[in-house]
Amino acid sequence: MKRLAVFICSLPVVLIRAAQIIDLPTISPSPKNASRILDRSLASLSIEFSYLPSFGGNLSSPNLLTKALMEQLLKRTGVGPDIRPGGITADSTQFNPNASALEFDESPSGGIWRTTYGPAYYESLSVFPISSKIVVDVNLGNNTVQFARDEIQAAVRYIGWDRIRALELGNEPDHFAGGSRPSTWASSDYTAQFLGWTSVLSRNLSLPHDIFQAGSFAEDPTSTAPMTTVSIIEEGVDSTGAIKIFSQHTYQYSTCDPARDAIATLPNLINHQNITAYLDLWKPQIAAAHAVGKEFVVGEYSSVSCSGKQNVTDTFGQALWLADTVLYGAFLNISRMYLHQGATLVLQSNQQANSPGFSWYDLWYPVETDRYGAARASPSFVAYLLITEAVGSSGKSQISLIPTPSHPQLAVYAIWDQSSLSRIAVLNLAIRNVTASDEEKEAAVVYINLSDYIEEGSTAKVKRMSAPGLDSKDSSAVTWAGQSYENGTASGVEVVETLEDGILSVQGSEGVLVFL
Ligand SMILES: *[C@@H]1O[C@H](CO)[C@@H](O)[C@H](O)[C@H]1NC(C)=O
Ligand SMILES: *[C@@H]1O[C@H](CO)[C@@H](O)[C@H](O)[C@H]1NC(C)=O
Ligand SMILES: *[C@@H]1O[C@H](CO)[C@@H](O)[C@H](O)[C@H]1NC(C)=O
Ligand SMILES: *[C@@H]1O[C@H](CO)[C@@H](O)[C@H](O)[C@H]1NC(C)=O
Ligand SMILES: *[C@@H]1O[C@H](CO)[C@@H](O)[C@H](O)[C@H]1NC(C)=O
Ligand SMILES: *[C@@H]1O[C@H](CO)[C@@H](O)[C@H](O)[C@H]1NC(C)=O
Ligand SMILES: *[C@@H]1O[C@H](CO)[C@@H](O)[C@H](O)[C@H]1NC(C)=O
Ligand SMILES: *[C@@H]1O[C@H](CO)[C@@H](O)[C@H](O)[C@H]1NC(C)=O
Ligand SMILES: *[C@@H]1O[C@H](CO)[C@@H](O)[C@H](O)[C@H]1NC(C)=O
Ligand SMILES: *[C@@H]1O[C@H](CO)[C@@H](O)[C@H](O)[C@H]1NC(C)=O
Ligand SMILES: *[C@@H]1O[C@H](CO)[C@@H](O)[C@H](O)[C@H]1NC(C)=O
Repeated sequence: MKRLAVFICSLPVVLIRAAQIIDLPTISPSPKNASRILDRSLASLSIEFSYLPSFGGNLSSPNLLTKALMEQLLKRTGVGPDIRPGGITADSTQFNPNASALEFDESPSGGIWRTTYGPAYYESLSVFPISSKIVVDVNLGNNTVQFARDEIQAAVRYIGWDRIRALELGNEPDHFAGGSRPSTWASSDYTAQFLGWTSVLSRNLSLPHDIFQAGSFAEDPTSTAPMTTVSIIEEGVDSTGAIKIFSQHTYQYSTCDPARDAIATLPNLINHQNITAYLDLWKPQIAAAHAVGKEFVVGEYSSVSCSGKQNVTDTFGQALWLADTVLYGAFLNISRMYLHQGATLVLQSNQQANSPGFSWYDLWYPVETDRYGAARASPSFVAYLLITEAVGSSGKSQISLIPTPSHPQLAVYAIWDQSSLSRIAVLNLAIRNVTASDEEKEAAVVYINLSDYIEEGSTAKVKRMSAPGLDSKDSSAVTWAGQSYENGTASGVEVVETLEDGILSVQGSEGVLVFL
């Protein structure tokens, strides 16, 4: 039986001075300045290739936490998230039909320099919903087309076309120069190799047209980026009809070196201006992909590269960062964003802050480990619940950012479903730490008058994404609609508030979704 507590929003409205209520611009009843139709798999996942079995388990021993968490997402949108087994380890993989699921060759310091996998590897994918599409990332780094051919052939055989979203060659090939490629390796070299390989592979394996996901570049697309969606399109990468999707990666902060490690702080991350200004860098890339009729995705992302940062990306703050990043990305017409789940790999950087192990930014820890303790959802998991409920299950929703320049730390998104205003997401990124005093808490609260959007005689429902504070690390204290999801199932009594008088309050470091 579903336990449901309906709370009448019992704010002391009399105490709210009119001046404290934030004036929102009028939100149009029909889509205005809105995105494309949102893909129900907007909130998708990338899982480090060599760690997929840790997350998925296998047929005889499926990872039940992963299964339960994925079912939470499926339940909200009607489809599973896309899964991309990929990342830096993909460029040193080799498929061998005689191999067991996974065989690592590790360096003395624990870095993985080669992964051999066999048919049983694919068993890990059965834990994800059958409707989850798979992005197949194959080895480009080794520069041996036969490796890529064998990997694609195996994926087609063991995953099947009905589940394959796209084929991807390599991971972050803009970082190959001076490593697996000569130091002169440039955009035009990538484009030439992409065209050569996709033509050989398409012929050899009779691949469908428009099946490749191109790019997967790491560098932010500033003027110094070695290669971008824009540069490879200019070079003719789309001239042969092989491409379905363009992909670039986004990592706003990093612990790969001390200078960037120093600024990867919660106050810098959880900042609406920083988040939007950063994603705005991709606008020309998104536009270039759309101009040639292709989707643009962020094929791998998180807040802090080189596996995140302790006390930053393992806090509830990461949930707020995720919610704002993904909703804003959707507004910019990014079709899907693949949140990376992984592990620290020694080969990422020789001066990084982290040592090997699962990443500090993972949405969940799939198995028990010394460093992280018991398997459980991390405090950021609830963000994927807010996002999937914002997207909904109709396959006909659109989103827009409603600007509130007088409150720079407030992010308000309108969601129209089947062309009518249906949901409003409000993220209050003002900091409310666990140790905040009552005065500090009060100063961070915002009030919004939504009564204009609530039809006469009907009531709006409110679900909150909340925690004791921005820096909370205890998943059992982090809630969505009053319930925590530490072990993948909703725990506690569901709390759905009713917005009787139309006045919504949102605490600092809290997100809400209003259902009109
Ligand atoms: C499935 O996983 C279990 C537990 O990790 C392991 O013992 C078993 O060998 C795996 N089976 C296959 C076919 O890889
Ligand atoms: C797999 O094993 C078979 C039978 O032992 C052998 O003929 C084949 O060469 C092996 N394939 C690879 C790629 O090792
Ligand atoms: C390619 O793979 C082979 C076999 O695993 C390995 O010896 C070689 O070092 C790899 N080359 C690169 C550039 O990764
Ligand atoms: C595809 O490549 C494989 C291995 O390189 C080769 O044996 C096979 O004949 C090729 N098939 C076609 C149709 O080109
Ligand atoms: C993030 O925001 C803070 C506060 O506005 C600012 O001081 C900082 O420079 C920003 N960081 C980056 C990397 O944009
Ligand atoms: C994170 O916080 C814990 C306890 O609060 C502390 O022991 C640890 O040193 C902190 N880690 C970093 C990287 O600041
Ligand atoms: C997103 O796509 C829609 C529909 O094509 C378009 O109207 C809108 O301007 C685009 N948004 C951005 C930020 O480019
Ligand atoms: C669309 O929304 C963006 C972001 O809030 C804003 O900068 C832009 O002015 C809006 N455009 C229109 C036509 O309303
Ligand atoms: C909240 O905690 C963070 C991280 O410990 C700290 O940097 C920040 O100054 C605190 N903010 C407030 C408003 O207390
Ligand atoms: C909220 O807006 C409605 C309609 O615009 C208005 O009648 C009402 O007085 C407002 N409430 C408050 C508390 O300002
Ligand atoms: C998860 O936790 C809840 C509440 O503590 C419990 O009822 C449920 O059995 C647990 N589920 C699993 C799969 O461990």
